[in-house]
Amino acid sequence: MTDRIDPALPKAELHLHLEGAAPPAFIRGLAQEKSIDISKIFDERGGYAYRDFWHFLQVYEAACTTLQSPEDFRRLTLAVLEDRAADGVVYAETFLSPDFCGGGDLVAWREYLHAIESAADEAERTLGITLRGVITAIRHFGPEKSRQTATCAVETAGRFITGFGIAGDEKAGHPRDFTWAFDCAREGGLRLTAHAGEWGGPDSVRDALDHLKVERIGHGVRAIEDLALVDRLAEDRIVLEVCPGSNVCLGLYPGFAQHPVARLRDREVIVTLSTDDPPFFHTTLRREYDALAAAFGWTEDDFRAINADAMRAAFCDEATRDRILKIIEGRA
Ligand code: ADE
Ligand code: ZN
Repeated sequence: MTDRIDPALPKAELHLHLEGAAPPAFIRGLAQEKSIDISKIFDERGGYAYRDFWHFLQVYEAACTTLQSPEDFRRLTLAVLEDRAADGVVYAETFLSPDFCGGGDLVAWREYLHAIESAADEAERTLGITLRGVITAIRHFGPEKSRQTATCAVETAGRFITGFGIAGDEKAGHPRDFTWAFDCAREGGLRLTAHAGEWGGPDSVRDALDHLKVERIGHGVRAIEDLALVDRLAEDRIVLEVCPGSNVCLGLYPGFAQHPVARLRDREVIVTLSTDDPPFFHTTLRREYDALAAAFGWTEDDFRAINADAMRAAFCDEATRDRILKIIEGRA
């Protein structure tokens, strides 16, 4: 496909899973170094292989078994940021899970975080990409684990760790099971987001808003099935972290043209665009923009406006927000 949108357009993405952004060759290399046999998670061309969303979660967790030390996460962070910077990304927020970094132990988590943050600092210096971390509970690991995760989040909140969220199997448990973790994170000064409205319907979005009191929703696209909820999202300025290519790849919609992102935007919901787990879904932000331009006739001005909205909704300090906004709006 030829580029429709200038590939160099400065981009911001708010919904990126760090392990889910791992290049398959990187994970294969780690597996070889450690003699771990995870050959079954790759297809014949070396990409990740899975059947559906629930199998995707299993493959994701199998890939994570190769990430065993802070040094592995330092290398992972650098590899991911090199790819994202090549995609034109100047600001990203990444989901991080203490569960995959030392099993939720706070002492171990601090060491992993130190390694991730030092890689982010290096990438900012050398590649001009800024990263912030959103600590994420894994829903199917249960409420007890989520309390441990929230404690790790609050203990390490600061310049780099700025948000708290929840990912994983949207059908496991109910948002009310996770209120303790979200209340703890909010009281600890963290900004909040939750995956909802991807595999759950509109009620899952309403439940995330009512029980977890989040200001952003990861995906949220199935809100389109209830127009009263769409109006609520628009009126309350709830920001959606939309990942169209992820939804199409996982079979939620047959193609970009059928994806509700344009209808949500037309109804004045604040939408932002992200890649979720880019190598799993064979995507980059450049590909997302080109596919959306083809499906809806969106122009560079549309993407510049969406990126500016993303920065206004970013979980970062004001100086960083202003600096990146200038880049996105061509004022730098
Ligand atoms: N973990 C990684 N990617 C995810 C997604 N798209 N939804 C829920 N959990 C995830
Ligand atoms: Zn996600």
